[in-house]
Amino acid sequence: MKKAFLISLSLIMFLGMANLIHADGDEEYYEEELGIRKQTIYDEKNIMPATGEKTTIEAGSSEKFERAFENSPPLISHDVTDMLPIAQKDNLCLDCHIPEEAVSMGATPIPKSHFTELGTGKDLGDKLDGDRYNCMQCHVIQTTATPPVANIFKGEFRAEEQKYRSNLIDILNEGVE
Ligand code: HEC
Ligand code: HEC
Repeated sequence: MKKAFLISLSLIMFLGMANLIHADGDEEYYEEELGIRKQTIYDEKNIMPATGEKTTIEAGSSEKFERAFENSPPLISHDVTDMLPIAQKDNLCLDCHIPEEAVSMGATPIPKSHFTELGTGKDLGDKLDGDRYNCMQCHVIQTTATPPVANIFKGEFRAEEQKYRSNLIDILNEGVE
């Protein structure tokens, strides 16, 4: 009985030791104490990705969000459920955001930077650069998820209007030319 107890005790100690991280000095930490998730990294069963609530307000009725920083890609302020996925021959985003239609739709027009081949600076006229076709690659919907670590980043804007509009194409070569 006593022997069995000792064996299991040393087994527990051995397993515990395996997850110990030795820091400089005398302090020792378990892996679960490090990082943000506070769970073992060897098992996913208690881990749920944060999803948050997405807006259900339809395009045309939503309120635009202030940009995160100057010339950051604006967050999508409206519901996109019926607009996805974006397919090769079907991109509903363009219907409302293409500059000719955007004004009458009350939508922000796709900016000049998206009609420019940025690598070469070539003006593509009214042809959207292929790299910009998949809007969802850069533009995301704002959600109400609580970040595990408070975000203290504060965007800086050189002009008040840039809180709601971008001007990347005009300032791209600032300080270079
Ligand atoms: C039916 C028209 C319509 C469609 C389709 C549409 N939008 Fe919009 N979008 C709008 C309108 C109008 C606004 C302005 C806010 C409002 O009135 O809801 C807007 C706002 C936005 C904004 C915020 C712009 C800013 O200045 O802050 C982004 C980004 C955006 N839409 C991206 C998209 C993407 C990506 C898609 C495709 C998945 C899409 N939209 C499809 C009409 C549309
Ligand atoms: C490769 C990343 C990328 C893709 C793809 C992309 N955008 Fe953008 N978008 C940006 C960035 C960055 C900005 C802000 C700087 C600028 O204007 O170029 C922006 C700005 C915008 C703006 C704000 C314009 C203004 O005047 O304030 C709209 C509207 C927009 N994009 C719509 C779209 C739509 C619709 C698509 C898909 C057809 C799309 N974007 C694809 C990165 C992207």
